[in-house]
Amino acid sequence: MRRILIIQGHPDPVPARYCRALEAAYAEGAAAAGHSVERIDLARLDVPFLRSQVEFETSGVPPGLAGPAEAIQRAEHLVIIFPLWLGTMPALLKAFLEQVLRPGRAFAYREAATPQKLLTGRTARIVVTMGMPGWLFTLWYRAHGVKCLERNMLGFVGIRPTRRDVIGMVEQMGERKRLAWLARLREAGRRGE
Ligand SMILES: Cc1cc2nc3c(=O)[nH]c(=O)nc-3n(C[C@H](O)[C@H](O)[C@H](O)COP(=O)(O)O)c2cc1C
Repeated sequence: MRRILIIQGHPDPVPARYCRALEAAYAEGAAAAGHSVERIDLARLDVPFLRSQVEFETSGVPPGLAGPAEAIQRAEHLVIIFPLWLGTMPALLKAFLEQVLRPGRAFAYREAATPQKLLTGRTARIVVTMGMPGWLFTLWYRAHGVKCLERNMLGFVGIRPTRRDVIGMVEQMGERKRLAWLARLREAGRRGE
């Protein structure tokens, strides 16, 4: 059984968003299989913008984000769900990661060229929805807006992305496909992947 943390990165709290249905499906599968599931909903958090390197290095995580930052540390597996906005994650999710992946907590500066990763041992699943076809994002755009999250943010602190769900053409999606994706996420939750 795994300790799973789901980070809902959709800035819109409206329940009709597909990202929220995907989150619910994953959480349902994971809980039914006996995994421990925590959920963070960024739309309901106060996420201030980070303004300077001095703040990044010295101020610590803002009080309102201390709980979520600790939840990341407790988790063995992270599921990060977001819609593609202007080719990458919404600014709210990026702002959140800038606040919680702080030196001393997520990585440590050292004499060596590369900082020490402090969140090793954790894995991640990325679930991204979009208006364009998924194959176009993966093949033509080379999934650059997601690779940045996988390599430069998660990889940088030691979290190993293992799975990526690219869910395209959400607005045009028929009921059958919609349900198929939900079933896939429920099954992924059951397996704790
Ligand atoms: C501000 C904004 C920017 C968007 N940028 C893109 C984009 O760059 N590429 C794309 O395929 N879809 C883009 N979309 C469409 C969303 O990705 C799509 O509506 C969303 O994934 C649907 O999932 P949801 O129901 O959970 O919101 C954008 C939507 C908004 C509101």
